[in-house]
Amino acid sequence: RPRVLSGIQPTAGSFHLGNYLGAVRQWVALQESHDAFYMVVDLHAITIPQDPAELRSNTRIAAAQLLAAGLDPERCTLFVQSHVPEHAQLGWVMNCLTGFGEASRMTQFKDKAAKQGADRTSVGLFTYPILQIADILLYQAHQVPVGEDQRQHIELTRDLAERFNSRYGDTFTMPAPYILKETAKIYDLQDPSAKMSKSAASPKGLINLLDEPKVSAKKVKSAVTDTDTVIRYDAENKPGVSNLLTIYSTLTGTSIPELEQKYEGKMYGALKTDLAEVMVDFVTPFRDRTQEYLDDPETLDAILAKGAEKARAVAAETLATTYDRLGFLPAK
Ligand code: TYM
Repeated sequence: RPRVLSGIQPTAGSFHLGNYLGAVRQWVALQESHDAFYMVVDLHAITIPQDPAELRSNTRIAAAQLLAAGLDPERCTLFVQSHVPEHAQLGWVMNCLTGFGEASRMTQFKDKAAKQGADRTSVGLFTYPILQIADILLYQAHQVPVGEDQRQHIELTRDLAERFNSRYGDTFTMPAPYILKETAKIYDLQDPSAKMSKSAASPKGLINLLDEPKVSAKKVKSAVTDTDTVIRYDAENKPGVSNLLTIYSTLTGTSIPELEQKYEGKMYGALKTDLAEVMVDFVTPFRDRTQEYLDDPETLDAILAKGAEKARAVAAETLATTYDRLGFLPAK
């Protein structure tokens, strides 16, 4: 079985619709066909300041949402990144192999650092993509299911795998991004030129899966469209409507041409009203299932402990080979 690995940050509490459609949904599908490793990346979360109690609680909330979304601990390995110390250990090695200029070209870092200002930006945020490289290479992942915004980090991972392998001998599997074209980038409902993101200017364009369903329904109903009236997929000229069609199509399994047909001659309001209902039908059971997992933290923690144990077995082996290749004296 080919292997997949991916991670999600626990920082926001609730996942947003972009996280789900761009990544988590694919994680659920891939556990059927792949040897799948999925983690909550708390080490990445502390690249920006976190309240300790909130971080702990949000880490459980993230894991509960992954289970609610359909990850099955019998079919995949679900764990918390800090439970597997090898991530930080291989991260250091990768730091030493990455060029300063190379890391400086990461656009996500540049965007975040520009927003925060240099003095409030941690060195950890700068090396964030390098820890991600370690995450991926530790598990010898063939594919990494993510949204479009992670593509550059995976390209850097490939560069580093190649560099290490040519310098020290074949050690790491070459990973490839697994990015579905349709859902690679879900857009903000108020600003369809920007990706849906927790750091958006206005919360009105962001669907949080754990919000009251009626709040999300309202956001769908007030989504920005355009001054035309035709319901047609055209990402360039009709980004708002196209985004709604993408969301509708993925949540219901109805193809976009079918939806175009269904809404022929109808107004935007009809599409939005129906999509609001689809959204409520999706988030309501999702929230309930998440809450069920959160109501039983012992079971949740046991799932994560078992996941960490399985993950460590793989990670420790890769790290040992890496240390050996680097010429570290064994500890015996
Ligand atoms: P994070 O936590 O920001 O996001 C989790 C996943 O959601 C995807 N995503 C989107 N997809 C489509 N449209 C959107 N608007 C949208 N917003 C977010 C992201 O692409 C991501 O797949 N660096 C990663 C976490 C990470 C990781 C890894 C991923 C750490 N180590 C190893 C893969 C492999 C991140 O911050 O994701």
